[in-house]
Formats: sequence, C-alpha cells, structure tokens
Amino acid sequence: MSKILHRDLKKDPLLVSKGEGSYFYLPDSTKILDAAGGAAVTSVGHSNKEVTDKICDSIQNIQFVHSSLFTTDSAEKLASTILDDPKYQSLGFSKVAFYNSGSEANETALKLARQAFYEKGALQRTKVISRDLSYHGNTFGAMSLSGHKIRNKKFIDMQDPKTFLKVCPPFYRNFHISGETEEQFCDRLIKELDDKFQEAGPENVICFFAETMIGGTLGCVMPPKNYFERAKEICEKYGALLIYDEIMCGSGRLGSFFAWEQLTDEDNWDKVSPHISTFGKAIGSGYMPLSGVVVHKKVVDILKEGSGLSLSRHTYQSHPVACAAGLAVQEYIRSNNLLANIRNLGPKLGDLLKQELLGLEVVADVRGHGFFWCVEFLKSKEPMEAFDPSVEFSEIVGDTCLANGLTVIPCHGCVDGFLGDHILISPSFDITEEIVTEIVTILKKSVLEAMTKI
Ligand SMILES: Cc1ncc(COP(=O)(O)O)c(C=O)c1O
Repeated sequence: MSKILHRDLKKDPLLVSKGEGSYFYLPDSTKILDAAGGAAVTSVGHSNKEVTDKICDSIQNIQFVHSSLFTTDSAEKLASTILDDPKYQSLGFSKVAFYNSGSEANETALKLARQAFYEKGALQRTKVISRDLSYHGNTFGAMSLSGHKIRNKKFIDMQDPKTFLKVCPPFYRNFHISGETEEQFCDRLIKELDDKFQEAGPENVICFFAETMIGGTLGCVMPPKNYFERAKEICEKYGALLIYDEIMCGSGRLGSFFAWEQLTDEDNWDKVSPHISTFGKAIGSGYMPLSGVVVHKKVVDILKEGSGLSLSRHTYQSHPVACAAGLAVQEYIRSNNLLANIRNLGPKLGDLLKQELLGLEVVADVRGHGFFWCVEFLKSKEPMEAFDPSVEFSEIVGDTCLANGLTVIPCHGCVDGFLGDHILISPSFDITEEIVTEIVTILKKSVLEAMTKI
C-alpha cells in the first residue's frame, strides 16, 4: 500500500498516468472522461500545451521570491487581468491577493474583515453569520464558518457557536415549510438573518459569509430572487460586510468571472456585489494551487489609513509560478471565448440531464447553472424519502460512473446535512457538444446500473 496518508486509509486511490483535454488515463490505458473537473477545478482541460509552455517559461525565469520584499510580473499581470475590467472598477474593487487553497482565501477574507473593523476602532466586532449546511474550507476558521454537519462533527466542540452564528441556507426545494411560496421562503430567511444580527448585537457582527451559488453541500443551489440584494441591505444597515465564497462557483464556472454577476442584470450589480469575494479552483485549472481574495476599496482604505498592513500572510502568497499558471489559464479562457462556451452549452447540458435523467425512479431533481450541475437522488419521490446514508447511493453512482469511464463528484447531506445523496458535474470550460452528450450518456447508463446494486 501507498506510504501517503490518503483520504481513505482503507483503499488507495487510482494511479493516473497522464491527462489530455477532457480526459485522463490510467497506466493500463483506461480512458476517463473528467466530468467532475477534479472537483470543479479544471477549466482549460488537462495538459493544455499553451498553458504548460507558459508555466515552464515562468519557472525557468524565477521560481520563488518572498512577497514581503518582492513582486513578479506574473502576479501583477494576473491582478490586472482580474481587476482592470471597468465593470469591476466601477463597483469599487481595488485589490486582489493570491493564495493557494480555497480555505486560505476564505481565512484571509475573514481576517481582513476583522482587521479592518479592529483598525476602525470597532474592536467588539468579532461575530460572523454564515449558513447551515455550508462548506467554506478545512482550516479551523473556514471550518468554523462552515455548517457542514459531517465534516465538522468531530471538531464542533472546539468551535465557538457564539462567534460563528448560522442561518438557514436559501434552498427552497428542501427547506421550505409546507405551503410556503418561494417568495415567502425568501422573506422568512431574510427575517431570520435580520433576527440573527439582533441576537448577536448588530454592532458586534463582522460579516455575512455565504457561497453565491451553493456547491457541494446542497448541490448547485441558486438563491431565490432578491435574496442577496436583501441580505446586502441588511449588512449595510448594520455596517457589516457581505463576503461571497466563490471558490467552487466562481472564476468563470457560471459563465462570468464572478458568480454574483449571474444574480441580476448588469445595471443592478451594485445591489448584489460583495465587499470581499474569494475565488479558487478554476482560476488556475489545477496547473498550480491558486486561490484569491478580491477586496473592495472601502476595506482597503481602512487598512491603508490604519496599520498599512495586511495581516493575512502566507509564505507562498502571490507565488510567481502559481500566478503564471493563473495568468496563462485566464488568457486561454479569454482568447478561446470559453465563458461564452459555458453560456451556450451550460443550458444544453442542463436540458439534456433533465431530459435523460429526471424520468428515472431514483432521480429527484436536476439543478444548476453554467457548467455546474447537480443530480439529486431519492429512494422514493412520492412520498419523498431519502436513501439510508449507510447505502451510500451517491458513492455507488460515482463508482459505477468511474467503472464506465466518467468522473462525477459524489456528495451527501442535501436533505439535512446527513441524509440525501447527490452528485455534481463540473466539466472543463472547453468541452464540446459531443462531450456534453457523452457525459449524459455514461451518467444515465451508470445510474441505471447503480439502481440494480441496491
Ligand atoms: C465553496 C468552497 N469553499 C471553500 C473550499 C475549500 O477549498 P480548498 O479545498 O481549496 O481549501 C471549497 C472546497 O471544495 C468549497 O467548495
């Protein structure tokens, strides 16, 4: 067995020998279509030569400098590529910082927000409101922000519930009360958020921290209409910040660089745009670990006028090769119009999934946006009954897909944090219509096979 402390100590993962476009290969030449995109990471395919050439040039130039004293062209150019867009400038985004993982980016977002209040003299602002059944990362701060029942369980006693407060996720389908319309559901959630500020003492709250589109925990959930507009109004009423976690749904996956652009038309972006937004995964397509934090001028100015320092520091922040990878990926996405490809093929992927899968006995729902789709499974649709978690139905689907040459992301807990099985599909941004068909064909065949295994 492997000497690596893998995620599963009882079973080694499969060895991969090489990647090519939307596919990768095992040493015995088994070909696998990567519809998971390595958990919503891959955006420009595997082993993309244009990208790898630029990364090789970059590493031959300079492999590392410490960001306390130095910067590099790749980091500066990547920052400009993201921020120079006049649309984002006019909304006030003025700085971006680069890190490695999504967890680090979310830790940074939280620390920058706290630091800004501290330097403004609001030392009492120490509380954070986020949502149940959310996932913001694996490090302690990000985990405390998260409402992930399964992953948090063994660490929950080390987290302070008076600091990290939770509200209901905006997932109408699974969380509305019987008879409640989506509008009434949204009204209830907004009231709950306002009440939570009151419970904490509004003057004590740093921020409302939320995924723009909920990813893994509940499965590709867009909030009800006006949810974030109204949440932002509450944050501003109480002088708190609105922070979006776009690690999974951002960096283009929904068809625009920021996922929040999809919430409303461009004329109303100022009503939903956050004070801080994080991104990760697809930004670097996995060529190097890369994540980041975009910060509004309001927050940057407080720090500039205060200590003049950002206290979220990591040895590998602004890593020159990671930033070169991010830059090469962003250039490739732009020059090949890949966000337009997502806007064009995303609805087709969704329609085909619905057409082929919704009729199956165990498929309860197909939902999503752009290149980020979820298929939810139930043991019975009428009356609604989830599989017993011990069945691990999403794992059975995932394993069957893999045996049939397809990756998907098996997830659990979309009903109440423990119950509920779903899988995610998050392919590379450059897939073609033929690959869309191939994904849905293998997935349908695999779900049918999985149904015979329970
Ligand atoms: C929404 C969200 N936030 C944060 C993270 C943590 O990112 P990482 O695993 O890169 O630390 C993830 C990872 O899946 C995520 O989906």
